[in-house]
Amino acid sequence: MSQITILGAGAMGSALANAMVRAGWTTHLWGTWLDDHLVDAIEAGQPHPRINVVIDPAVKTFRSSELEQAMAGSQVIVLSIASVGVAKVTEMALPGIAQAEALWLTSKGFLPADDGQIELLPDGIRRIAAAHGVTVPPIVAVGGPVKANECAAEEPTATVFACTDLSVSTKYATTARSRRYAIEASDDEIGVEICAPMKNVYAIMLGIADGLQELRGRPHHNLKAATFAQAVKEMSLLGEAVGARPDTAFRLAGVGDLEVTGLSGRNGTYGTRIGRGEGSRAALATMAAQEQTVEGEPAVGLAVQLVAQRAPQIADQLPLLTAARTIIQDDPANYEEILVDAVLPKAPAN
Ligand SMILES: NC(=O)c1ccc[n+]([C@@H]2O[C@H](COP(=O)([O-])OP(=O)(O)OC[C@H]3O[C@@H](n4cnc5c(N)ncnc54)[C@H](O)[C@@H]3O)[C@@H](O)[C@H]2O)c1
Repeated sequence: MSQITILGAGAMGSALANAMVRAGWTTHLWGTWLDDHLVDAIEAGQPHPRINVVIDPAVKTFRSSELEQAMAGSQVIVLSIASVGVAKVTEMALPGIAQAEALWLTSKGFLPADDGQIELLPDGIRRIAAAHGVTVPPIVAVGGPVKANECAAEEPTATVFACTDLSVSTKYATTARSRRYAIEASDDEIGVEICAPMKNVYAIMLGIADGLQELRGRPHHNLKAATFAQAVKEMSLLGEAVGARPDTAFRLAGVGDLEVTGLSGRNGTYGTRIGRGEGSRAALATMAAQEQTVEGEPAVGLAVQLVAQRAPQIADQLPLLTAARTIIQDDPANYEEILVDAVLPKAPAN
């Protein structure tokens, strides 16, 4: 039987643990030093506090001090860590990662290097490992419309596994699949890794349309749909500019994940608060006070830097990203006009 170790006992790591048990894998779940209360609940058979679903008792849990034991003998290691913690946990887990046949990533975000270069997570992880003399096994980017609570509860879920070596992603798409957890295999690691943080950025913008609707007491569905279409176009353009297949943005990792992220979650809530007129800084402070981190907020600035570094030729074709940066970082009073201007197509030139 294959064995997997999932690093991070938060919402997604724990949800994936349930899916892997259903797929017949021996499943280890390691909690960071921030996860003791989550591991307590899992071990007590109580619903996981973040997703309100019981984690299968077949999942073997490990505390932060038991990282080595958690990873021993696993063919697959998974990073299911919030993007801020990815570099640190990667360094800690290098001995186990070096022994594994594959490293899966459910984490979403960019990784800024010390020299200011903005890297996609797989590149950043390979760089960190290389600095320690470690070669990372094939990386599988896990993407698509997967809300942790639904995945954990065995609601129908479609996901995509992407690895530059298609035989690797195909192998795991076959062996990790279960009745209601369907996996598409792709070779577009870059495309999935671009869509993952970018859809968080764009979900904030979808939320602004929702907030305007609340503020005005009138539907703003047309604006939201135009925002959605522009977001997908920009994910595709940016992906292609840095080496992705353009169609990945139109599939599960792009359209699919943007839809699910825009329907619920912290990025959308943040955008809704901005749209209601709370102001981007005040809204972020309110959410921070409620211990709600908004992954899309830091991703906006990093995405703008990534474009400047690696795709300056398309910067003017990304008006929604530019609008996101202005609204989120400058906190302007005319945020509505800025969003509208970014997504309504311009009159054709004569
Ligand atoms: N929740 C979902 O539906 C979902 C779906 C797909 C992907 N993801 C991605 O998976 C990753 C984890 O998300 P989640 O929903 O499980 O979040 P979560 O907040 O429930 O869990 C975050 C995990 O990261 C760890 N962590 C947080 N800050 C850290 C730090 N500074 N140093 C080290 N570790 C730290 C926590 O201990 C925990 O294990 C994110 O990148 C998220 O975008 C989430």
